[in-house]
Amino acid sequence: MKIEPFALERWMTTYETRVHYDIAESGIFPLSLQELLAMQPAGEGEQTLQELLDLRLGYNEANGTLALRELLAGTYESCGPENILVTTGAIEANFLLFNVLLSPGDHVVAPFPAYQQLYSVPRAVGCDVDLWRIRPETGFAYDVDDLEHLLRPTTRLIVVNSPHNPTGAVLSAADLERVYRLAESVGATVMSDEAYRWLVIPGGEELPPPVYNLGPLGISVGTLSKPLGLPGLRIGWIAAPADLVARCWATRDYVSLSPGKLNDALARLALEHREGVFRRNAGIMTANLAAANAWIEEHRELVSWTPPRAGLLALLRYNLDIPSYDLANRLAEEYSVMLAPGAAFGVEGHLRIGIGQDPPVFAAGLEATSRCFADLQSSGVGLASP
Ligand SMILES: Cc1ncc(COP(=O)(O)O)c(C=O)c1O
Repeated sequence: MKIEPFALERWMTTYETRVHYDIAESGIFPLSLQELLAMQPAGEGEQTLQELLDLRLGYNEANGTLALRELLAGTYESCGPENILVTTGAIEANFLLFNVLLSPGDHVVAPFPAYQQLYSVPRAVGCDVDLWRIRPETGFAYDVDDLEHLLRPTTRLIVVNSPHNPTGAVLSAADLERVYRLAESVGATVMSDEAYRWLVIPGGEELPPPVYNLGPLGISVGTLSKPLGLPGLRIGWIAAPADLVARCWATRDYVSLSPGKLNDALARLALEHREGVFRRNAGIMTANLAAANAWIEEHRELVSWTPPRAGLLALLRYNLDIPSYDLANRLAEEYSVMLAPGAAFGVEGHLRIGIGQDPPVFAAGLEATSRCFADLQSSGVGLASP
């Protein structure tokens, strides 16, 4: 398979372990094992730790333990363990689904800008991919009319990602239902990357149900990485009709085989105590949203945004005459700040910000960015022409 480079990942690997202030962070500030154990009722952590220490590290059940699949199935309607495949993150779930569902020449509609995997892998499979644009002119919102215009009688797959990386757009329940009905009308499947599921803005609106709940043409992809702050566990999953799950599992035999046994056990623990993690998330998101809004107000000549409507991500529009890769490189190299270049998503003049970082680090990152903006202006970088 010939596949185009994953622009954002290539850029991030240069800096992510070197910078002090990663405010492009795409998930919630990760939990430590200590914090995860402390999510349990008082006194239970010690016993769980002992059980983990005694765990024999053989191969795990290849599709995820029954206990983990039952826990995950319980988060959907009419879903049993046979409808769940545990994968190596959402990234493997997406990769398996594209390879199992698609053939060269198939017509696919995928969002843009996007987590690049969502359109680059279908392209690499040889599909004819039309991009469903989430445009700045609409305040980075999904427009289902645009999707309708892109559909063909032969469309095989509609890919959605809501809450959306990188814009923070959300498909409302009514819009998601309409996407599902449109797919049904042409016999397509809806594959929904729900990596940002459960990440509601504190005090904001509830998220629509996962697309799996809408019917047999709906496939949901989930992960512990973003909403549970556990990207290091590399645990994601597919929720889909059982025959499709079985085909994805058969493909997985050639890739990663099975989830790590320890990771599967920790994933169960995290899911059982997810309400505690969600409370922690709400505290982080509230603090960082307030800091970001105040900072944007302070720099309103230079930056603006449509805040995340759910999830953790948004694009900051900056009003300086400098390409986003140059600005992001300068921020990383000279100010130890990571804000992802919009050009890595095909959206120049923007930087991607994430509100999941540890609040003191987030605040320090914004402050360092202010210094960078001031230095750029005093070194003669002007405002961008409108
Ligand atoms: C939309 C989206 N899907 C999938 C992934 C992959 O996540 P995971 O860590 O579960 O593989 C990411 C990670 O940034 C993402 O933003």
